[in-house]
Amino acid sequence: MAKLVINNESKKSTINPEIYGHFSEHLGRCIYEGLYVGENSDIPNVNGMRTDVVEALKEMKIPVLRWPGGCFADEYHWMDGIGPKEKRKKMINTHWGGVVEDNSFGTHEFFELCKQLGCKTYVNMNVGSGTVREMSEWVEYITFKGVSPMADLRKENGHEEPWTIDYVGVGNENWGCGGNMRPEYYADEYRRYQTYIRNYAGTQPIQKICCGANSADYTWTRKVMETCFDHSEPHQHGFMDGLSLHYYTLPETVDDWNFKGSATDFTEEVFYQTIARGAFMEELVTRHGAIMDEFDPDKKIGMMVDEWGIWTDVEPGTNPGFLYQQNTMRDALVAGNTLNIFNKHSDRVKMANIAQLINVLQSVMLTEGEKMIKTPTYAVFHMYRHHQGASLLLSDLMDAGCVGKDKNEVAKVFESVSVSDDGVINITLTNNSLEASEDVDVVLTDNGSAYSVCEASVVTGKMNAHNTFDAPDVVKEEEFSAYSKTDSGVKVTLPACSVVSIRLKK
Ligand code: AHR
Repeated sequence: MAKLVINNESKKSTINPEIYGHFSEHLGRCIYEGLYVGENSDIPNVNGMRTDVVEALKEMKIPVLRWPGGCFADEYHWMDGIGPKEKRKKMINTHWGGVVEDNSFGTHEFFELCKQLGCKTYVNMNVGSGTVREMSEWVEYITFKGVSPMADLRKENGHEEPWTIDYVGVGNENWGCGGNMRPEYYADEYRRYQTYIRNYAGTQPIQKICCGANSADYTWTRKVMETCFDHSEPHQHGFMDGLSLHYYTLPETVDDWNFKGSATDFTEEVFYQTIARGAFMEELVTRHGAIMDEFDPDKKIGMMVDEWGIWTDVEPGTNPGFLYQQNTMRDALVAGNTLNIFNKHSDRVKMANIAQLINVLQSVMLTEGEKMIKTPTYAVFHMYRHHQGASLLLSDLMDAGCVGKDKNEVAKVFESVSVSDDGVINITLTNNSLEASEDVDVVLTDNGSAYSVCEASVVTGKMNAHNTFDAPDVVKEEEFSAYSKTDSGVKVTLPACSVVSIRLKK
């Protein structure tokens, strides 16, 4: 039997709600059809935003949304997406499927969506093919309250009051699709662009995010930190508030991005390989974090993992440029493991945005016309929502062992524990074994016998179980009852291939 010891008197870092963040790009059917159907659609909507999708995201407690890309961000010229819709420029989305982008979803629509969702805003701006002026004017258009050319233009376009930008991304993947820059070159560009992201009087300071590394490119992190970190004393908050990191879990590929493996049809060996590759996030966060620590030992700068998740081959018969993939229990486990990793590193990881929100890569929802289904990944985000804003508790898992073989060997159980402001303890656990359940003796170091389970749920199924438009509830969050009270806490039996959430109350 495994043992999970929780020091319930040891509050550590706050788990920033933004760790549970999402990403929406002008890619495939994420924005158009997924989120936005237009005011005249037969699909129920409010100001063009799908009601079913908005309601489900609120239920999941979406804390922040990143937009408009991705690679699309460094080709996006925001002025194309404002003003009367019939006059907006049409363009070809060269990155994603070569389809016509009519710019009917632009700045006003993004802020309307975030208002409906009640979430924070993360706008990723264009460095690769944009200008400093363009970026600076976009910030002015969105946030300036007084009289100015851009504020006046916003008002002419029907929005008197400014909006709030919580985060600005200064370019995306500038080592690749965002301009193929060297870290030294990008770092200098970052310094210049960020200078003109103004915090206008009376507005909340914008958090500026510098483009970070691709996966294990530690050189990028070091070189960018060397140049972009503000070394002046006292450290001026606001020069650089975050450094991004992108990492995708590719189930089968070695070097060939053209073959990543099917989303639903895979062997047990590939299942464990995927779990092990997903768990590589622990090493990435630790090693990039150690470099950041050299410059920023007080952890003032957040690591923003603003793209992560499983990337498989597209569903057969769909546009390869649309990145539409199904989502199984394997996705649920990668999500559950990764979110546990982020929680445990919440002293450094301040935001994470799974890619992408809907109909693209590891989505929480899929749509087909008027139909919408929630994926196994949705269930995990819903189950883990109690961690948002809670304090991480020190926890130590013993004797759970490993699953998978050789290079695919990976911990059987991933866990994290937090305490909410009302004193409820939130425990989330995964069981990555396809065959064996796992008993976990959960021990609280302080007064464990006084606690009982107040809420518990599970998502479980076969490794490739998934929901379809004809069978939408094959994998879903269900009530969990495989636990019993003990003298020091609770004993839990995790089913094979499952993610479990247990909440304890005094
Ligand atoms: O999420 C899909 C793409 O992956 C993004 O546009 C890009 O930033 C990354 O390479």
